[in-house]
Amino acid sequence: MAYDLKMRVWRGDADGGELTDYTVQVSDGEVVLDALHRLQATQTGDLAIRWNCKAGKCGSCSAEINGRPRLMCMTRLSDFDQAETITVTPMRTFPVIRDLVTDVSFNYEKAKQLPYAELGPRDADGKRRMMQVDVERSQEFRTCIECYLCQDVCHVVRDHEDNKQHFAGPRFFIRYAELDMHPLDTHDRRALAQDAAGLGMCNITKCCTEVCPEGIHITDNAIIPMKERVVDRKYDPLVWLGNKIGLR
Ligand code: SF4
Ligand code: F3S
Ligand code: FES
Repeated sequence: MAYDLKMRVWRGDADGGELTDYTVQVSDGEVVLDALHRLQATQTGDLAIRWNCKAGKCGSCSAEINGRPRLMCMTRLSDFDQAETITVTPMRTFPVIRDLVTDVSFNYEKAKQLPYAELGPRDADGKRRMMQVDVERSQEFRTCIECYLCQDVCHVVRDHEDNKQHFAGPRFFIRYAELDMHPLDTHDRRALAQDAAGLGMCNITKCCTEVCPEGIHITDNAIIPMKERVVDRKYDPLVWLGNKIGLR
């Protein structure tokens, strides 16, 4: 059934902007992205939105809906009262390009700082072998769609621009953890995760886990185990001695 939806959408660019009110006809069963597309088609042809799959799989349509980081294509209008005004704003942690589109290149820079897996020698028959249980352990982290909603919500960078230089953020902590769990990888990322990626700045608020559309247990399965491994390394007597004499 069709009804008139009241929307408040942030319009502007890097120099500033404001919330603008619209009323648009929508139907039950539609999502916020449908409503914005209808706005584009009927009233605001220049409204900038980033999207691609409309199926919750490309991670492009991230924004804040009534202040909560969400995918616009996966947020059903039926989640809201029909009389309610739905407010859509760009992700706050990243610089605005225009309207609802933000510049997420911060994340690409953090991705570049992460060493790839470097595999150890092959077995005598030329093959490499991994236990199925080791493959499965990090499978959850590979479902990440790089929507960066977890990065957006994390207060370490959301409220403190200065921290961005020293903090990779939850999306990359799961990547650190994933690679660290790789049974054939020879890198030890623990020092890097703690120092360059700022793992110690995470105080386990779990907001990242709450907004992840893939339901990845970012805090419990990646960040906390990674923190534990960093602590193990710190109190490893050989590492302690090496630090003392300047070898490690
Ligand atoms: Fe998005 Fe979840 Fe990946 Fe973060 S971990 S980028 S919230 S899919
Ligand atoms: Fe940020 Fe998630 Fe830690 S929201 S503070 S990275 S638990
Ligand atoms: Fe691809 Fe929303 S358009 S996740």
